Amino acid sequence: MKCTIHAARQFTRGTVDPRLFGSFVEQLGRAVYGGVYEVDHPASDEEGLRTDVMNLVRELDVPVVRFPGGNYVSNFNWEDSIGPKESRPTRLDLAWKALDPNQFGLQEFMHWARKVGTEPMMVFNLGTRGLAEARELVEYCNHPGGSYLSDLRKQHGSPEPYAIKLWGLGNEMDGPWQVGHKTAEEYGRLACEVAKAVKLFDPSLELVACGSSNVFMPTFPQWEETVLDHAYEVVDYLSLHMYFRNDEKDIATFLACSAGMDSFIETVVHVCDYVKAKKRSKKTMYLCFDEWNVWFHSLQKDKEQKPWIVGPALLEDVYTFEDALVVGCLLNSLLRHCDRVKIACLAQLVNTIAPIMTETGGPAWRQTIYWPFYYASKYGRGEVLDCRVEVGSYENAQYGTIPYADTLLVHHPDTGEIDMFVVNRHQQQALAIELDLSGFSGSYTLFEHIALEHQDQYAVNDKLHPDEVVPKQIFHGDIGSIVEVAPLTWNLLRFHP
Ligand code: AHR
Repeated sequence: MKCTIHAARQFTRGTVDPRLFGSFVEQLGRAVYGGVYEVDHPASDEEGLRTDVMNLVRELDVPVVRFPGGNYVSNFNWEDSIGPKESRPTRLDLAWKALDPNQFGLQEFMHWARKVGTEPMMVFNLGTRGLAEARELVEYCNHPGGSYLSDLRKQHGSPEPYAIKLWGLGNEMDGPWQVGHKTAEEYGRLACEVAKAVKLFDPSLELVACGSSNVFMPTFPQWEETVLDHAYEVVDYLSLHMYFRNDEKDIATFLACSAGMDSFIETVVHVCDYVKAKKRSKKTMYLCFDEWNVWFHSLQKDKEQKPWIVGPALLEDVYTFEDALVVGCLLNSLLRHCDRVKIACLAQLVNTIAPIMTETGGPAWRQTIYWPFYYASKYGRGEVLDCRVEVGSYENAQYGTIPYADTLLVHHPDTGEIDMFVVNRHQQQALAIELDLSGFSGSYTLFEHIALEHQDQYAVNDKLHPDEVVPKQIFHGDIGSIVEVAPLTWNLLRFHP
C-alpha cells in the first residue's frame, strides 16, 4: 500500500519541549524498593542506588521524573521521609495496601535525580493534607537557609536548596478511589489557594493542576472547567491521565487507541480555551500528560498480592511487541500536540508498568516498550512538521476512521535532518512510504531505517530473553527516498539534506 507524506518547511505544529519525554517513579510496588533502590544489590552504589538501573534511565534520557505518586501521594507525610533513616517511621500506604519504610525519601530521590540527570516533578499531598504542608515542603526544599525548615534540610545534609521548579497540585483528585477525593469545587478552591501561597514564595514555580483521571470519568470534562474557573490564572498546566488496554485481543482497535488520546487532548484544549475566553484571559493553559501507558496485563495477578509488605510485586506488566507498537502510536499522538502538551510522563519508569524491569537481587533489562520511547526521546526533540498524509484507512467501531500509517515528522533546524516515526497498523500489507518534501528547498535522502518487528505480536523481553524484541538496523547509507515498512512494525526513518 502506498503512503505519501507531504511536508513543508513553513508549516510546523510546534517545537517539542524535551519534558515531553518525562517519566514517573511512584512509591508503589517494586518501583523504588528492588527497583531504583536496593541496598544489598551488588550493582548498588554507596547510597543503595542501583547503577544498572541508573544506566538504563540515563540511556532513556528522561528530562523530568514525577515523584512520589500517584495515588500514594494522597496519604503521604513528606516529613516522614527526611532526616536520619533510622528514625523515619514505617507507615501504612493505604493506596496500595503496602508497608512504607520511608528509607528512600526526599533526599534519596533528589540524589538519584541528580545522578541520572533528570529534574524532579514533586507532587503535593492534597488528599489527607493541604496548604500548610505544601507551603512547608516548598520551604524545606527550595529556601536557601535562615528559616526553620530550610535549616533543617541543611542539618539533614543538603546545604544547597533542591531548587525544584515543577510541582503537581495533588493526584487524580476527581477519582473516588483517591484518599481524600474531592469534588471539582472543593479541589478547584484548594488548588487555587495552594498555588497562590507557593507562588508567594517563588512566582517562577511551575504548577500543574489535576485534570480528569481518564476520559471515561463521569465528571469529565465538567471537572476541567470548574477547576480552571477557580485556578486558571495561578496554575501553569492542567494534567491528563490515560491508560490503554487490549483485553479483547483486538489488535486493530488497540492500535487505533492513539486516536482516543488525540481526541482526549483536543477536548481538554477546547475546555481550557473556553475558560480562557470566559475569563477574557491572555494566558494560554498548557497540558501536562503526567500519566500515560499501556496497563492491563497485571490487573488480575495484583488481586492476589499479599497486603502490607514492603515492595509488593504490583503492576508488573510484562509488555508485548504489540504493546510497543501502541506506545509508538501514543508517542506520536503526544508529539502531534506539542503546541499544547509541554510535559508528559510515561507511567512509570521501573518495574511498575515500566520500560525498565529488574529482578530483586538480579539483573535489569529493557521491556519492549523501552524502544519506541528511547528513539522518540533521542530523535523527537525538534520541530514537529504539520504533514498531509495520503494512505488507506480502516473503520473501527470505537475510534472511527483510522489511517493504516501513524506518522510523525520531526525537523531538526540545526542539522536540517528530518526524522520520521511510523507505525504500520496494517496486519498484512507493507507500506511504501514516499516523502514529498517539495516544501523544503533542496533534496532529501533517506540514510537510516531502524525498525521494531517480530513475527509474534505477543513476544516479550524477560530476564532469560532480554533481547527477544529489539530494534533492527534495516539499512544505513544513502539509498533514495522511497522505503517499505513491513506490516505491524514500528519504524524510524531518517532523512538528511
Ligand atoms: O500509575 C499507577 C496509578 O495510576 C497511579 O498511582 C494513579 O495516579 C493512577 O490511577
